[in-house]
Amino acid sequence: MKATLERIHREALAALEAAQTEAEVEHLRLRFLGRKGELTEAVRGLREVPPDERPAIGAYLNRIKDEVERRIAESLTALRQAERARRVAAERIDVTLPGSHHVPGHLHLITQTLEEMVDIFIGLGFSVAQGPDIEDDYHNFTALNVPRNHPARDMQDTLFITDEYLLRTHTSPVQIRVMEQQQPPLRVIAPGACYRHDDDVTHSPMFHQVEGFMVDRHVTFGDLKGVLTLALRRIFGSGTPLRFRASFFPFTEPSAEVDIGCVLCGQRDPHCRICKGSGWLEVLGSGMIDPNVFQAVGYDPEAVSGFAFGLAVERVAMLKHQISDIRLFFSNHVRFLQQF
Ligand code: DAH
Repeated sequence: MKATLERIHREALAALEAAQTEAEVEHLRLRFLGRKGELTEAVRGLREVPPDERPAIGAYLNRIKDEVERRIAESLTALRQAERARRVAAERIDVTLPGSHHVPGHLHLITQTLEEMVDIFIGLGFSVAQGPDIEDDYHNFTALNVPRNHPARDMQDTLFITDEYLLRTHTSPVQIRVMEQQQPPLRVIAPGACYRHDDDVTHSPMFHQVEGFMVDRHVTFGDLKGVLTLALRRIFGSGTPLRFRASFFPFTEPSAEVDIGCVLCGQRDPHCRICKGSGWLEVLGSGMIDPNVFQAVGYDPEAVSGFAFGLAVERVAMLKHQISDIRLFFSNHVRFLQQF
């Protein structure tokens, strides 16, 4: 019996020494200490040991069991620590490494300007409407009091798609589309792209306008002046001089163009290259909505009145930032665009 115990003792210590994983150690625990384990069987075998040898053998057996249990516990602790150390080493990060830089883009200056203008009118109680870029002749011209063969059609160089369809030359057709669908009172702006057969330093074949109009029972020219004065001062600065000048548009009567004091020379340079010495720069067209337009959308011109206006977004951006060529907006030179 003693010899058997000595063998088990040696084998258990050697096997535990060699075990590399927790699973192997668990396996050894079963092999030696499990219900059918070698040491468990040895405890049962004590009955066959002669009574005089039993105390010594029993004590030895207990020592082996204690030692094997302790070694198993130590081995598991060591293996778990080694495993944790390995994981920590694998997950180690070097916080001194330079970060990877994300270079975020930003909105195009025209988008920024457009959103700024839209926000100002929303602040004045206007809501936003949109219409199609591909318009029909009726909404772009006829309903706006520009019948076929009327000379006013020559005011805008239209890009026609067919006899009937065209790229809208202005955002004014959105006035018609909104009034066809809704009844007054209305306070609406319509921002969007427009297209004309035009291309020079101040004209681009595609450009943007913010259309706006207000219709109610008693809208006056004073309302037009008040709203546009507020909006333009918010866009260009509160001290900006403004001038309302009589003009002509087929869809408004009377009509006015609005000029702002020259942003470059402050109305002081008789040779200024932007205002040409006049001191004034035109920024928008406007007027009281023509009765013929109300008739076209089924409103009673005797019962309602309204004003309308159209602002050119590129022109506002050019004046605010003193940009001399409209084509810079669309030529996609990053060094130009990055400045804004
Ligand atoms: N649609 C005009 C243009 O593109 C601008 C304009 C003028 C719009 C007067 C209006 C307005 O609503 O009342 O030249």
